Amino acid sequence: MKYFLDSAKIEEIKEAYETFGIDGVTTNPRHIMLSGKPFLQVIQEIADWAKAEGLEGYEKFPISVEINPHLDDTQAMVDEGRKIAAMSKNFVIKIPSTEAGVAAAKRLEKEGVRTNVTLVFSPAQAIIPGKINALFVSPFIGWKEANGEDCKKYIEDIAKIYDNYGFKTEIICAAIRTPKQFVDCALAGADIITTGLDVYKDSIKHAYTTQGLGVFTDAWDQTITE
Ligand code: E4P
Repeated sequence: MKYFLDSAKIEEIKEAYETFGIDGVTTNPRHIMLSGKPFLQVIQEIADWAKAEGLEGYEKFPISVEINPHLDDTQAMVDEGRKIAAMSKNFVIKIPSTEAGVAAAKRLEKEGVRTNVTLVFSPAQAIIPGKINALFVSPFIGWKEANGEDCKKYIEDIAKIYDNYGFKTEIICAAIRTPKQFVDCALAGADIITTGLDVYKDSIKHAYTTQGLGVFTDAWDQTITE
């Protein structure tokens, strides 16, 4: 299983890489907006950091970058995907799961530009990305669970379909908001999870760990340790 950071903030990316050893980054227009920087500047900055770390290439450290969400025409999506992909070997082009989007992803994959089909909310939407050999498919978890849905079976179904037909597309469980969702996706057979720095931090915490450290530090203080 691989672990991506869902963020366009360079300081968070550096911290997540140094502390948790993340394997890649996913961004979307909301994350770019939250970085407070211009789109092209921020994606270049992330790519330059990956290169400086010796992580050049999407095989080593994929950075998903979403095309302009206003685009709804296949040719325009392909043109935009090519333009972004030409900026860095790390970029994987995120394209929405729409008819024009999957047609664009299919064309880009054929010419060697790797894609991530995003905004996926059902197993049915995951089938065509697998068939066209997208590098990634991004079923969203947090958005659905915020609406009261339980997503474990949704991921199990996608994993089973991919397994049945030998699809190579990797499943990124996206928009993970809690350590519980993190665990559910791992149990359900996700290839990758992508989440924010706070969830990685929360996932390694436990109240008993804090309590246990208190017990051990008290014991340490009453022991001759020289
Ligand atoms: C990742 O690929 C998605 O864009 C992401 O998980 C959605 O994240 P958000 O809900 O934090 O915008």
